[in-house]
Amino acid sequence: MNFSESERLCELLETSGWRETKNPDQAGLIIAFGCSVRQKAENRVISFLKSHKYLKEKGTIFCLAGCTANLHKEKIFNYLPFLDIVCGPNHIAEIPEIVDNYSPGRIIIKTGEKDSPFIECIPSKKNITIMIPITKGCNNFCSYCVVPMARGKLQSRKPHSIIEEIKNAVEQGIKAITLLGQNVNEYGKDFTTDYDFSDLVCEILKIENLMRIGFVTSHPEDTSEKLLSIMAQNKKIMKHLHIPLQSGSDKILRDMNRKYTVEEFLQVVETARRLMPEISITSDIMVGFPGETKQDFEKTLSIIKEVRFNELFIFKYSPRPMTKAFELPDDVSREEKEHRHRIILETQKEISREILSSFIGKACEVLVERRSIKNPLLLIGKNIQGIPVTFKNNQNLIGKIVNVEITGYEEGILFGKVNGEYL
Ligand code: 5AD
Ligand code: SF4
Repeated sequence: MNFSESERLCELLETSGWRETKNPDQAGLIIAFGCSVRQKAENRVISFLKSHKYLKEKGTIFCLAGCTANLHKEKIFNYLPFLDIVCGPNHIAEIPEIVDNYSPGRIIIKTGEKDSPFIECIPSKKNITIMIPITKGCNNFCSYCVVPMARGKLQSRKPHSIIEEIKNAVEQGIKAITLLGQNVNEYGKDFTTDYDFSDLVCEILKIENLMRIGFVTSHPEDTSEKLLSIMAQNKKIMKHLHIPLQSGSDKILRDMNRKYTVEEFLQVVETARRLMPEISITSDIMVGFPGETKQDFEKTLSIIKEVRFNELFIFKYSPRPMTKAFELPDDVSREEKEHRHRIILETQKEISREILSSFIGKACEVLVERRSIKNPLLLIGKNIQGIPVTFKNNQNLIGKIVNVEITGYEEGILFGKVNGEYL
């Protein structure tokens, strides 16, 4: 979400005369998008800004944007006294105007919740894929998660605004989109009409010349059979679900306020695989949540072995202010969290390796995205499961779907050779 918002803000700033530079020493304005989901992420943005503080002397404007800004508000000046602008996620579209009217020495704080417009501009430094935000905020209140506090309550973007944007993007050469939301399945729950995520996807499917539609993130509680059937019936929809499990223990899931049991999670996986045997399922796992015993952890490990996710993102629990879990003792030691993290990492590495190796000898439809920067002889794209595929070819196939026979894999990437037939 931060990446998508910064991409869009960059576009807005460029239309008002700014130019992006990769060299901070040349920057008249530095905007840092802070993630606060874990302490480590927050530390990273704070130390990034501190390490560029020396630029203040030559008048560079410093802006902290994103969740970190909203969460800490004026308290952030205790850590970063040299900031000029503090701007929460709901005010990002105002940044171009703020910086254009900025006079040195003023401090501007724009935080808090409000209904705010989505930034409706298509990033022009695109290749053939873009991210389309469809919701802001989240109403789920998982007990460990700071997002509802940092980004506010759910706001769904109006269908016509999404559809118009995608149509414009396709006219400009975009071939694939990823719909973005903290929980895309919540889309529309704040509308007064009966319009949900499946309805939106069906409308998007009618857009001509759009080759692929993907989405993240899905919540297991709301991943309906209706949506899974639509996915199964449409070749344009990516066969990939990112459904965070978090824990394999019902007790921990209850304490996390996740609103599903392990059994219900397995049901979603079972239905998805029944309807789409080739589907790639990825997930998030958290270790060391307050009260997580060795037995709870063993249950998580056992589910991971049973489900065999394509890929996992594994996190060590980090207490976040203002969350329900913050009131609980952070009683799993750092060493134990690291130990549990390592075990899952190693288990998953082997599973991911086995899944990738099962592609060898099979053919994949690859939407070609770009040439490799390291080796321009190679083209890079994704197959329908969203797995990166690379192959040697000297023709201009960017934006085309190519049939590639997989011959090997390395570090999460499949490689192969072209079978012919371009779409
Ligand atoms: N500590 C550790 N991991 C967290 N996540 C969210 N909040 C926390 C936290 N307080 C993880 C969850 C979520 C992913 C985006 O980040 O696993 O799915
Ligand atoms: Fe956070 Fe839960 Fe919402 Fe995801 S669904 S953003 S984990 S509160």
